[in-house]
Amino acid sequence: MQKILVTGGAGFIGSNFVHYVLDNTDHHVTVLDKLTYAGNLASLAGLPAERFSFVQGDICDGSLTDRLTAAADVVVHYAAESHNDNSLHDPRPFLDTNIIGTYTLIEAARKHNKRFHHISTDEVYGDLELEDPERFTESTPYNPSSPYSSTKAGSDLLVRAWVRSFGLQATISNCSNNYGPYQHVEKFIPRQITNVIDGIRPKLYGAGENVRDWIHANDHSAAVLTILDKGVTGETYLIGADGEKNNKDVVEQILTHMGLPGDAYDHVTDRPGHDLRYAIDSSKLRSELGWVPKFANFDAGIEDTIAWYRKHEEWWRPQKAATEARYQVQGQ
Ligand code: NAD
Ligand code: TYD
Repeated sequence: MQKILVTGGAGFIGSNFVHYVLDNTDHHVTVLDKLTYAGNLASLAGLPAERFSFVQGDICDGSLTDRLTAAADVVVHYAAESHNDNSLHDPRPFLDTNIIGTYTLIEAARKHNKRFHHISTDEVYGDLELEDPERFTESTPYNPSSPYSSTKAGSDLLVRAWVRSFGLQATISNCSNNYGPYQHVEKFIPRQITNVIDGIRPKLYGAGENVRDWIHANDHSAAVLTILDKGVTGETYLIGADGEKNNKDVVEQILTHMGLPGDAYDHVTDRPGHDLRYAIDSSKLRSELGWVPKFANFDAGIEDTIAWYRKHEEWWRPQKAATEARYQVQGQ
């Protein structure tokens, strides 16, 4: 049994990880989360008090992170400002949380000599051409495009430097786009599902040709536990489930599952600097640590996700109007 401090555990992927850990191990979890617009305590409702505790606070708060890190065996760092569109309109919180917050946490982990796992994204590598046979690997050069991805890249480099200069016991994982329950309605898949529920036509940025490499959040959680268990300190592992799809196909799939014609969507203003394609080669994680994704069927995963949003309207409804109002101002 280990005591795991999970930052950002009230967000989408962090809360899925907390559920996964409590369901599949005997570890104890403490969540540190600021509860920004993206954090939701309802995602952690009903967890067993003897194995779970919640602390509301900011990862930039040095004395708080010092105290919580000292009390933990392992720190798994999910907390971030995570949405590209928001980063284009107000980059400052991305610098504060993604850069200064990560710095504050690795200083605490260094001081108390604790195992640290840094959660990152494939977006640090920039994008690939649509027809390019290449995929990202651990040795692809960093080339981020947006304030979000550049601050995540900066945080990765801080962790690498702390490993090299101070012997921090850290691993890093860079994962592709996640889908599943508890994802904020600002993100692509839940936005379109909840739009259809509300009788609004889905919104595709530009031509909808951009490709994302989709992975179920539970597969991401399993990969992170595998890295905590068997990963080598100082190493980076790419996490992906061979789930490349263009946005148009994803929207068509959502519409069809929800009983509407596959072309009942609108094209809206494209995102500035919109990355064309992401694709992950996760051979290292598979061959060296033995991880394999279990949610191979994206179509079934999308059906389950639609069912989850239909069933949990009380979870997403409070976020919906403000999110759509923000997009409307942006012409999206
Ligand atoms: P999210 O926006 O749903 O959740 C982020 C959480 O962090 C929220 O609960 C928020 O309250 C919390 N938070 C934000 N600032 C904080 C601060 N200063 N102090 C403490 N808590 C703070 O994000 P997500 O989609 O779950 O992403 C989680 C992590 O996974 C991020 O590091 C992201 O870069 C990475 N990631 C996401 C994806 C994806 O598809 N969403 C893919 C790969 C990697
Ligand atoms: P998003 O969920 O924001 O993730 P990311 O930018 O990290 O990949 O968007 C996924 C893809 O969907 C991306 O190509 C942008 C596109 N998109 C739309 O076409 N319409 C939308 O309403 C949103 C939110 C995103």
